[in-house]
Amino acid sequence: MSNNLFLFEDLSKDLDKISQAESLTILANLEQELLGKSSKVALAREALKQVEPNERPELGKRLNFVRNQLQNGLDQRRKVLVEGERQKKLQEEKIDLGEILTSPQRGHIHLIAQTQQSLEDVFIGMGYTVEEGPEVETEWYNFEALNIPPSHPARDAQDSLYVKLGKPGSTLLRTHTSPVQIRVMQNNSLPIYSVMPGRVYRRDTPDARHTPAFHQIEGLVVDKDISFSDLAGTIETFTSAYFGPAIKARLRPAFFPFTEPSAEFDITCTICEGSGCRTCSGVGWVELGGCGMIDPAVFASVGIDSEQWSGFAFGFGIDRCAQMKHGIDDMRVLLDNDIRFLSQF
Ligand code: PHE
Repeated sequence: MSNNLFLFEDLSKDLDKISQAESLTILANLEQELLGKSSKVALAREALKQVEPNERPELGKRLNFVRNQLQNGLDQRRKVLVEGERQKKLQEEKIDLGEILTSPQRGHIHLIAQTQQSLEDVFIGMGYTVEEGPEVETEWYNFEALNIPPSHPARDAQDSLYVKLGKPGSTLLRTHTSPVQIRVMQNNSLPIYSVMPGRVYRRDTPDARHTPAFHQIEGLVVDKDISFSDLAGTIETFTSAYFGPAIKARLRPAFFPFTEPSAEFDITCTICEGSGCRTCSGVGWVELGGCGMIDPAVFASVGIDSEQWSGFAFGFGIDRCAQMKHGIDDMRVLLDNDIRFLSQF
């Protein structure tokens, strides 16, 4: 057995290299080279098993000494480099208040508002009008008129945020933009081709894809002879107009009390382009919203004759669209108001 493997003549050269490493990347490469799987240290450790038992303690000690020297060197250098980078970052991100006073920076429209505007533009191009409704709603508009019965779990205070106004449980922050459908049907003559953007609220725990306050855009079409294929075609047209032809939409059967039949629609996850990642929980698709043919019970609540008129509705997340369009892997940053993030858009 050759004991050359246990001679580390280069140790002091290696330690020099470590202490001169100029970046964390260089240091990580050095660590790989000196202590990684195919390093001399690893090979020697493997070879130790074959060494005569009487030589083993001595060689083992030598090997440990070398390994500790290298490891300590790497750890110390890493500390220095990390601190250096931190200082550099602090310096770069330092805000000079005096400078701001003399040369004010112009703000710009927030990414969510920009997204809302471009979504509106897509639908205006398709002949829709843009309508708005209140964020504080009555139970009647948010649930009742939409055929959501009092026993429905969505009405539970676990899911909805009620406000102290009027009879307890009668007023809440709207949980979706669908109540605006009802208002638009009450206030306009037929036919209707409208989209209704706005902020909505749910008791959700924030995560990469959810925040308790978010934005939706609702679509409503009421006309003669409207069919499900008109709905599917509209969703497809919108998806390729907004996300580009590479992003596909798919419809999955679902249930909503205010539409029948109903579907949920997903788009290809733009973060991983369909291969599966943290943002799409590994499935390659991201849910964008729900849609379906207006249920006759909803028409009845606003006095529209469902024998004569038919229509469809859809609703989807504006924040989710921004996230997917710009490859933002965590939605929470949209609300952080961190100028370094916002100034990119
Ligand atoms: N309001 C539904 C939601 O927020 C989405 C939806 C809108 C479904 C219109 C069907 C029709 O989940």
